[in-house]
Amino acid sequence: MDNRKTRILTGITTSGTPHLGNYVGAIRPAIAASRADNAESFYFLADLHSLIKAQDPARTQRSTLEIAASWLACGLDPERVWFYRQSDIPEISELTWFLTCVAGKGILNRAHAYKAAVDKNRAEGEDDDAGVTAGLFMYPVLMGADILIFNADQVPVGRDQIQHIEMARDFGQRFNHIYGREYFTLPEALVDDDVATLSGLDGRKMSKSYNNTIPLFAPRDQLKKLVFSMLTDSRAPGEPKETEGSPLFQLYKVFASVEETAVFARAYADGIGWGDAKQQVFEVVDREITPLRERYEALMARPRDIEVILRDGARRLRERHAMPFIAELREAVGLRDLSSTSVAADPDEEAPAEAPVPTFKQYREADGKFYFKLMQGDRLLLTSIGFDSPRDAGQRVAAMKEGALEGNADFQLADGVSSDEVNAALARFVAAQLAKK
Ligand code: TRP
Repeated sequence: MDNRKTRILTGITTSGTPHLGNYVGAIRPAIAASRADNAESFYFLADLHSLIKAQDPARTQRSTLEIAASWLACGLDPERVWFYRQSDIPEISELTWFLTCVAGKGILNRAHAYKAAVDKNRAEGEDDDAGVTAGLFMYPVLMGADILIFNADQVPVGRDQIQHIEMARDFGQRFNHIYGREYFTLPEALVDDDVATLSGLDGRKMSKSYNNTIPLFAPRDQLKKLVFSMLTDSRAPGEPKETEGSPLFQLYKVFASVEETAVFARAYADGIGWGDAKQQVFEVVDREITPLRERYEALMARPRDIEVILRDGARRLRERHAMPFIAELREAVGLRDLSSTSVAADPDEEAPAEAPVPTFKQYREADGKFYFKLMQGDRLLLTSIGFDSPRDAGQRVAAMKEGALEGNADFQLADGVSSDEVNAALARFVAAQLAKK
């Protein structure tokens, strides 16, 4: 690979309306990370994924708009990161099919979301797959395509998504192996255990499924009402209060400075009344959210501007990455221009000579060490370092014969030879082996 920047890719499911828990746990840290200079960042609205659960078109549209506006309002800068909508990149859907055809069905059977659905059906005495769509089953393949289409290196995710990243690696690796080249970078999950999870109104984790959320951009008076409705214990003003396990305190802490938090902790110890505590929490949250809310409202009033931003992101990204890459992948799998088939060629015309099958040669040098080299016809492609035993050299050759050019510590490309050329030669070798079988 060239010396490109690390690619970091973040998928945002377009369902529901963002709440404070999403903001603190996902949006705010992701936008802070998007400002890093040493990365090329991809942020996209996973609207195709949302269809698996949400099948109300008006809500799908509404939610996509709200979520796009939320990320923009919170400071995501479409000039500096790739910001796009999954469904605007048809190459993702095409790649989904290529990956579907290499993905092991058994692996998909083990995906958490699918397994949970099956377990629930069993517990209820239903047929295993009752009510399960093929969309739910295929979820990890679509997600793999999201990641692999841009050869992302790192994918920041919550723990629940690690399995999906592992599956994406598996699909990418299978494809690379079958088609004989490192087409896909194998992505890594980036898990940050430090991000805060907020408690909701009832003290349980803030989550849409518990119906205990505070919407991120609730109008000011509603925000205040919701903060004032948060669960507290029954201690009276004057009685010392526990900061540990107090949802109000936790909410204060993620919006306040360290100094403010220390002062607030002292107020707890000094027996601040719950009404006063709530007022302070409301103020500190509102201080950060108010300017964002103003931007959000301005954006929501101009949905056409958001549409333009998203389309522009997708258009540039397709031209730059997705279209050339899918063309390469079509070629790889054999969806090719028929006029270039050698059997169909006009017999009078000279068929393009197929590259010779490369050969590996093992030998021993005067230094007593064991070497190998890769030749294609009489062109030297690479020479290895010296190995201590013929077995070591042989193992390395065997790995290369599988098409793996990983690591380049133990060989040297010959003058004027690129790693692409060697990859192509190895692919040729693998193809010739397969043709023999
Ligand atoms: N599955 C992710 C979630 O539920 C969303 C998502 C879709 C995603 N495609 C992705 C995340 C690709 C990272 C990379 O949060």
